[in-house]
Amino acid sequence: MAQKIGSAEYRVEPLGPNHDRAAFSCGVSELDAYLKRQASQDLKRNLAAVFILTADGKNVAGFYTLSAHSILAANLPNDLAKKLPRYPIPVTLLGRMAIAQSLQGQGWGEFLLLHALKRAWIGSRQVASWAVVVDAKAGAREFYLYQDFTPTPDRPDRLVIPMKAIERMFDPS
Ligand SMILES: CC(C)(COP(=O)(O)OP(=O)(O)OC[C@H]1O[C@@H](n2cnc3c(N)ncnc32)[C@H](O)[C@@H]1OP(=O)(O)O)[C@@H](O)C(=O)NCCC(=O)NCCS
Repeated sequence: MAQKIGSAEYRVEPLGPNHDRAAFSCGVSELDAYLKRQASQDLKRNLAAVFILTADGKNVAGFYTLSAHSILAANLPNDLAKKLPRYPIPVTLLGRMAIAQSLQGQGWGEFLLLHALKRAWIGSRQVASWAVVVDAKAGAREFYLYQDFTPTPDRPDRLVIPMKAIERMFDPS
């Protein structure tokens, strides 16, 4: 899936040695440092799948990571928790997501989030996952609320969106 804004066409691809991670800046130093120093190690050790938004295969316009995770029903809002078992529930963690500062506010965050949710949903048909979970960085919580995530009661920064809701977005039949 490629997306065009202005004259550049952007695509999402797995992180590789061709991507210039050092030049990426999203305004949150922890996320910049993660991409520069940690992301390729996490990828090599199978701790996170890392995906890059890029127009030319070199410059990084944004990135996200997905990992397997689990959550307890006791830590979910009551309306989502009912009917769920008491043992840990499999979920997909959207560990990190960021858009380059120069491209923020132009719809790329929403594009990349939908891309991540679709990938998580497709993956869940092979390895079940009940929801996508994100631990929002300061300032980004409102972005996820706006994108239909629900906050969890025990951790205000942790938000979830059930896979059923994601499925309705991409397979409304
Ligand atoms: C948060 C982030 C990913 C959003 O990406 P973006 O490209 O700036 O956002 P978009 O332009 O796609 O915004 C989509 C919609 O969400 C809204 N939105 C975006 N950021 C928002 C925020 N922080 N609070 C509330 N609403 C927000 C926009 O107003 C827009 O709404 P509209 O379609 O009605 O205009 C991006 O700003 C970013 O990378 N920030 C720094 C890193 C970060 O905090 N990452 C999240 C870590 S958990």
